[in-house]
Amino acid sequence: MNIIWHAKTKQFHLYNDQISYIMYVQPNGELGQLYFGKRLHDTEDLIYLSDRIGLSLVTYYDMESQFSMELNRQEYPSFGSGDFSSPAFRILEEDGSSVTNLKHVGHEIYASKKALPGLPALYGTEEEITSLEIQLQDEKNGMHVFLTYSIFRDYPVIVRSTRFENRGKSELVLDRALSLCLDLPDAEYEWMQFSGAWARERRPITRKIDKGIVAIESKRGHSSPNQNPFVILKRANTDEFAGEAIGFSFVYSGNFLAQAECDTYGKLRFLMGIHPDTFSWSMKPGENFVTPEVVMARTTQGLNDLSQTYHSLYNNHLVRGKWKNQERPILLNNWEATYMDFTEESILKIAAKAKEAGAELFVLDDGWFGKRNDDHRALGDWVENPEKLPNGMKGLAEKVVAMGLKFGFWIEPEMVNPDSDLYRAHPEWAIAIPDRHKSLGRWQMVLDFSKEEVVDYIYGMLHRIIKDAPISYIKWDMNRTLTECFSQGLPAKEQGKVYHKHILGVYRLYERLEEAFPDILFESCSSGGGRFDAGMLYYAPQAWCSDNTDGEDRVMIQYGTTYGYPVSSIGAHVSAVPNHQTGRVVPITMRGHVAMFGAFGYELDLNRLTEDEFAMVQEQIRFVKEHRKLLQYGKFYRLRSPFEKNQAAWMVVSEDKSKAILAVYTMRATVNIIPGLLKLDGLDPDKKYGAGDKEYYGDVLMEAGIPLRDDCIPGYNMGHDGNSAILVLEECK
Ligand code: DGJ
Repeated sequence: MNIIWHAKTKQFHLYNDQISYIMYVQPNGELGQLYFGKRLHDTEDLIYLSDRIGLSLVTYYDMESQFSMELNRQEYPSFGSGDFSSPAFRILEEDGSSVTNLKHVGHEIYASKKALPGLPALYGTEEEITSLEIQLQDEKNGMHVFLTYSIFRDYPVIVRSTRFENRGKSELVLDRALSLCLDLPDAEYEWMQFSGAWARERRPITRKIDKGIVAIESKRGHSSPNQNPFVILKRANTDEFAGEAIGFSFVYSGNFLAQAECDTYGKLRFLMGIHPDTFSWSMKPGENFVTPEVVMARTTQGLNDLSQTYHSLYNNHLVRGKWKNQERPILLNNWEATYMDFTEESILKIAAKAKEAGAELFVLDDGWFGKRNDDHRALGDWVENPEKLPNGMKGLAEKVVAMGLKFGFWIEPEMVNPDSDLYRAHPEWAIAIPDRHKSLGRWQMVLDFSKEEVVDYIYGMLHRIIKDAPISYIKWDMNRTLTECFSQGLPAKEQGKVYHKHILGVYRLYERLEEAFPDILFESCSSGGGRFDAGMLYYAPQAWCSDNTDGEDRVMIQYGTTYGYPVSSIGAHVSAVPNHQTGRVVPITMRGHVAMFGAFGYELDLNRLTEDEFAMVQEQIRFVKEHRKLLQYGKFYRLRSPFEKNQAAWMVVSEDKSKAILAVYTMRATVNIIPGLLKLDGLDPDKKYGAGDKEYYGDVLMEAGIPLRDDCIPGYNMGHDGNSAILVLEECK
């Protein structure tokens, strides 16, 4: 891994064993992009890769040399000086103009990577990462822009972010500040996005790129279940197992824009960052602004390989603290068992049965505080309800811990109900525009976390409960979008900062709680998977994947989630049937077989199961305990997509390839067919694996496949709805 500056040709080359990223200082001093792809030999002068050509109706920066901003690939472009595609940023000056020309001033190359103040960021040692910070400057308005690139030694990955410093004499307004621009020489890519809504999150959608713009966004105040801040550009022939693709993952939990624009000449511009429509940042002289970062990964070996890069990178260089690379406790959450209707006694009964089944952690969900007997009231009043918890959180937690379980509980700290003591005391702490209608979502409003005193107050309330009780886990929920976004008391020209400052407030509260309670495992949640993003993983190493716990729908939701996020981060529970979201009755085997590939748990009252079902739960928990490291941290391969067939299959393989677990699912039975063969992946072709009562060479399993029949995969029957099976493969010694 290295970063080279060729002073003579003013060319930068970032490379590791797998990738090269090359840019240069153009004749006008602005930065141009030359190459991003497979590792190249270092060559001093690759400037011929840029385009110098005379075309009609093109504006040239320099007519003589035919250098045009429009025809050349730019690195961090502005609008208004000859580049007509969407810009990476925009600065408004006091005189009303908004043209900026960022010229190269200098740069710094250093080992490792700097933290981003107040923002989540990847990290690594001096041996693992080298960084480049390029300083650019606009001579007229005095804005200095620092583009940061960090290249990892062991991953085909570059992480980018941008810092703006107003070193001029007047106030400037940054009303667009994306984290990354990547100009590519051709647009022969397909665009993959992960879209959905509540209870049907992250379904892969592939769109063709053609002249014009393809984009996804969130302007909801959180990354959202509607669009995920993760996009893949892939060649048309790229599939799970082969082919070229580039991934872009935004390490941020608020509003975002991801966009690909194919221009008249067939070039492609990819942009990603904070959504400019809901952002405007005024900067006095001396002030600065830092964008969140984007993780750009590349593969030539298919989408599984790309996903595995993100899985390993996020497990090792994003997730922090005690829970990094740790097996996650098997939990029982009472939400679907009781909703808000519980007493200490009924909770203890559920916890006792969970313990008997082998669970390790009990989680008390919503309904334990204030007058919270339904979702109309009490958010913001983080004090135990004495009718439900007569001995407080501490009393309940101690009893659960005495049973031999760990204890955790649910909070939704960013929210307030109008019917709450907190709102009655501080209506100005809610995000709203005075004298204007206030939209509600789930009967609640959003607290204004852009205000430090609000974050401080909520911290104090939560700190009091946590410090007194033996708490091992916290589920941090967020159940409505932001509307009428306005911070009461803030001057007009600062209002464009509120969406972003709110997210910074969320991060600050996480940071403070984690500093005070470093051993607590945090699970993020937003009505299920409404804030499943890389930014959150920095604070909460797992996220409740979806409120939809239906075993069949979960195959799809978890399948889609694995494109960008590791299995260890996917909160996955077995719930009761008929399922509360879909009404479907999926066998407990399949519900378990799906949830096992995640941060595993249950979300039902085990006392209500039949003896046989309870025995099945005990067996599932035993199995997960035995194989948990492999299930949560093994190399994950998607083998058959539930979006293409009525079945799905995936597998995990241990690092040394000596062990693997295959899972196959049938959502809808297909009758009167030959079940066919399923090709496995990631095994050692020369190793012999024992599976069920048979033995196979790795090459046979990967090149010919395994028959999708009960005699080879015990328990599997493609002719039955809701059928599934798990097969453990172990190297024969
Ligand atoms: C939404 C979450 O996704 C659920 O799991 C549950 O915690 C409820 N909120 C509680 O209100």
